[in-house]
Amino acid sequence: MEITYENYEKLKREINFHNYQYHVNDSPVISDSEFDHLLIQLREMEGVHPEWISPDSPTMRAGAISSDKFAKVPHPAPVLSLANAFNKEDVRSWFDRQIKTDNRISSVSFTLEPKIDGLTIVLRYENGILVQGVTRGDGIIGEDVTANVRTIKSIPLAVPVQKTDIHVPDVLVVRGEVFMFNSDFQKLNQELTEKGEKTWLNPRNTAAGSLRQQNSDVTAKRPLSIYTYQILYYEGGTVPETQWGRLEYLKTLGFPVSDQSRYYSDFDSMLNGLDRWSEVRDTIDFDIDGVVIKINEIPLAESLGFIGKDPRGQIALKFPAREVTTILENIGVNVGRTGVLTPYAVFQPVICGGVTVSKATLHNFDFIQERDVRIGDRVLIKRAGDVIPYVIGPITNARTGDEKVFSIPETCPVCGHKTERLEGEVAVYCVNASCPAQLIRNIEHFASREAMNITGLGIKVVEQIVNADFVHDVSDLYILSRESLLSLEGFAEKKADNLINAIKDSKQQPLNRLINALGIRGVGESMAEILAKKFGSIENIANAQKDLLESIEGIGPNIAQAIADWFNEDSNKLIIERLKKYGLDPHQDIEENSSNDLPLSGLNIVVTGTLANYSRDGIKELIKTNGGKSSDSVSQKTDYVVIGEKPGSKAEKAAKLGIPILTEDQLIELINKKPE
Ligand code: IVH
Repeated sequence: MEITYENYEKLKREINFHNYQYHVNDSPVISDSEFDHLLIQLREMEGVHPEWISPDSPTMRAGAISSDKFAKVPHPAPVLSLANAFNKEDVRSWFDRQIKTDNRISSVSFTLEPKIDGLTIVLRYENGILVQGVTRGDGIIGEDVTANVRTIKSIPLAVPVQKTDIHVPDVLVVRGEVFMFNSDFQKLNQELTEKGEKTWLNPRNTAAGSLRQQNSDVTAKRPLSIYTYQILYYEGGTVPETQWGRLEYLKTLGFPVSDQSRYYSDFDSMLNGLDRWSEVRDTIDFDIDGVVIKINEIPLAESLGFIGKDPRGQIALKFPAREVTTILENIGVNVGRTGVLTPYAVFQPVICGGVTVSKATLHNFDFIQERDVRIGDRVLIKRAGDVIPYVIGPITNARTGDEKVFSIPETCPVCGHKTERLEGEVAVYCVNASCPAQLIRNIEHFASREAMNITGLGIKVVEQIVNADFVHDVSDLYILSRESLLSLEGFAEKKADNLINAIKDSKQQPLNRLINALGIRGVGESMAEILAKKFGSIENIANAQKDLLESIEGIGPNIAQAIADWFNEDSNKLIIERLKKYGLDPHQDIEENSSNDLPLSGLNIVVTGTLANYSRDGIKELIKTNGGKSSDSVSQKTDYVVIGEKPGSKAEKAAKLGIPILTEDQLIELINKKPE
């Protein structure tokens, strides 16, 4: 942003607005890292024009403003924050600067601690009894949320929790971070979904909203947790003089302390110790936005003093933010190989998880409706590790009223054919088999490594040959000429010959690969194998009725229907005929009673009650696909009864007969369990 006074004022107003949203309304509109970025820009401007700085500049205040919901409480010592480092070089230069100030720093030890993405809480104990819980506020004065703090089960109401010889100081003020474990967050959202209530966006947001609840009964219902990491103040007693000693001490008293914290005896080993954190970030059950590096010798660290509100003896190594917000500019729609329409978000480019992203999946149309995502919304995006970015949801309180509601397309965005939605299914389909979008993805799948394995036929080339009108279905690949290929951009003789040969070689692929390659809905690698073993040829599958297909272990009614439908379609019959003509008609011996190796093979399962993730037909299909038999009544022959909400008499009967009962999750676990 250009440094003009007008821009400076604008930025100042913007930051003050976000500050208010965050600290007073508990409804941040932008992410922490975006906020930090705005502040950095403002500081830069003030660096160039110090004469512009006025008392209302956000840089002139330690932290937050307070709302009048809670009583104000002064902290016994400033609740400071941390300066940021973004890489190891920053950490090294921070350390060099401290050595320059005081040479004794060169031989200090360190702790590394998770920088928990939650909210600071300051807990005051008098004679070992919890008397007050206060938010950070502006670092000098916080808000009294004692009633809410008391509902957090892991916060000790009195210390030491277990008998020790330690004399706890008469006044002990401990700082910690309140947060929510990811698994607890997911469970909470799951429960809300089941009740048809609005779900929360992320664990931090939920923890913030819960801690500053007016009614502590509401807080009590939220699964909040805490890790403590600092003794802010003490009086009438002693505490250890090192950070590591204090973490141990807090643990001994009964405070929750993260077991991810580590001690290092010197700078170099600490620097190496930083390497484990990217993995830690992916494996722990709570969100962290960095690692806190602390000089272990507290008196020495404190003697270094502060810069503003950041102590010099500690620094946070920040990770690239995985959740950011941006403006949703449009909703696009992709058409997949099976004709499924999938919406995706097009937004103003942002850095997320360390890379710039401008598109993310919106999952399906139900998601858009349930979350009420509108074009023009500020949306929260997440990208963790290699995971493709996805939209979490809109920040509804950032709405201006100009946002536009999106409606499910009635026609295919590629071919214009009418779309359809099957009864009970989430997906919306383009049912035009010759839709070019489907054709391109169909051929790409046909040629893929798991299917016909045609090297050199990736999506780019497929697009070229489809757009040049050389292929209209997969069988056309086998009559593709060298001359046609040579007319395409980027094709010299060698490349054309290689592709023609690779296509020719694919004629030798076994039956299961050809079945998979056809791209029948629900028929992937393992299903293709079952079909190949049972039927031995394409012709036999094509002649099989739905009932026969369904009688095979591992094939449920929906997939049986999809297979029968596919082979009934005239255009598909023609493809099979042509493939045969071009030499693709693999046969193999039929195996009787082949698959006993599916996870639910031989098991009789009854489902009762309403399930969270499956319709009744959906769960039956799942059981069948995994080799099990699903029946409607409980008898001696039943192996398991899966129960959902309001299970009724079948569950009672199961209990009487001593038949094991599973929840929906336990059934999925049984299916996913690796065979021993
Ligand atoms: S030390 C002077 N340690 O990160 C002490 N902070 O600005 C400064 N945080 O809002 C804090 N985990 O609430 C420290 N292990 C940890 C932390 C931690 C999370 C938060 C803290 C503060 C922010 C740093």
